Amino acid sequence: MSSKHIVVIPGDGIGAEITAEALRVSQAAAKKCGYSFTHETKQAGGAAIDAYGVPLPEDTIDACRKADGVLLGAVGGPKWDHVAPELRAEKAILGLRKSLELYANLRPIKVFPALAAQSPLKPEIVNAVDILIVRELNGGIYYGARQEATIVNDVELAWDREGYSRPEIERILRLACRSAIGRKGKVTSVDKANVLATSRLWRKVANEMAAAFTQVEINHMYVDNCAMQLVLNPGSFDVLVTGNLFGDILSDEAAVLSGSIGLLPSASLGDGTGLYEPIHGSAPDIAGLGLANPLGTILSAAMMFRYSLGSEQIAAMIEAAVDQVLVDGYRTPDIYQQGLTKVSTEEMGQQVINRLK
Ligand code: NAD
Ligand code: IPM
Ligand code: MN
Repeated sequence: MSSKHIVVIPGDGIGAEITAEALRVSQAAAKKCGYSFTHETKQAGGAAIDAYGVPLPEDTIDACRKADGVLLGAVGGPKWDHVAPELRAEKAILGLRKSLELYANLRPIKVFPALAAQSPLKPEIVNAVDILIVRELNGGIYYGARQEATIVNDVELAWDREGYSRPEIERILRLACRSAIGRKGKVTSVDKANVLATSRLWRKVANEMAAAFTQVEINHMYVDNCAMQLVLNPGSFDVLVTGNLFGDILSDEAAVLSGSIGLLPSASLGDGTGLYEPIHGSAPDIAGLGLANPLGTILSAAMMFRYSLGSEQIAAMIEAAVDQVLVDGYRTPDIYQQGLTKVSTEEMGQQVINRLK
């Protein structure tokens, strides 16, 4: 097998700690399977602002374009909250998603049986949870024109434009329908079609898509109701497809079902290099203390082996080791319960490595 090459972008806050563990686990799992890959580290976010004066250096983009996969920690933090909007650390991630044309963000929401009792929801409600959130990642209000606060007729105002084109909607809905085949065959398309023009186009396209994908059941749900159903009846969802902003918000909400946002991975896919990152941010409140849960990043690396590096075997090996670590009672502070074993970020990584088989 030809050797694959990945770019690792630690980013800011807890990024360095969690990507270090994900890389260590990836290397150990690859070795066990006789698989080889190389990696290089690149800067983005606040770290790049400090080093180069820009959040996303060209050199980082180029390296990502050439790589087989990108593993990212998280970017942003209070240190860079007051720079010019174009230079914000978060621009790095938005720029990477755009440069690599990563239009689909897959965010699987699952409940680890070992953690079900710990969910703020009743175990009988969360046990049935197996949701794939498919978030559109290249369009919508994130990338529309915007006006920063300015004075018009003596009044300060600002605006952000939400836009979606038919091709943008078609490609994400197609991917959602394809993902549903091989799962429960159900797609919930989430919008705000009772108010927004973009949502009405989205719904029209979804209805047309339903005619093409006869093996899939597509239904529509308003985003406000969806926010409620995710905690009331989360077991009723299979694939949930939605736009960029709604997907961002609903996936943090859905993370509560699993017990901690630190557990959840994501894959951002398009036609080029895939990008893999946990769904959480840089957690500045716990950065550098060894308190961060690395499992979301480790599971993101598993997704990278599955979707970009051509090894389902390594992906499944890492996922099984993560399941086992939780069954065996190892817990970072975010998921700690009395009587179990509290571990640091690094120890958690090591316990996963110990269970790779
Ligand atoms: P956050 O996800 O960083 O943190 C929210 C809460 O969850 C915090 O209490 C944090 O300690 C906790 N948390 C997050 N990840 C954890 C982990 N792995 N283990 C244990 N606890 C964890 O969200 P925020 O505080 O709103 O944002 C902080 C910064 O991160 C901001 O600058 C934001 O823009 C950025 N951000 C970046 C990304 C990304 O790079 N993909 C995603 C979200 C937020
Ligand atoms: C995420 C983050 C990003 C987003 C920010 C950091 C730009 O919240 O990946 O979920 O809003 O997409
Ligand atoms: Mn988010």
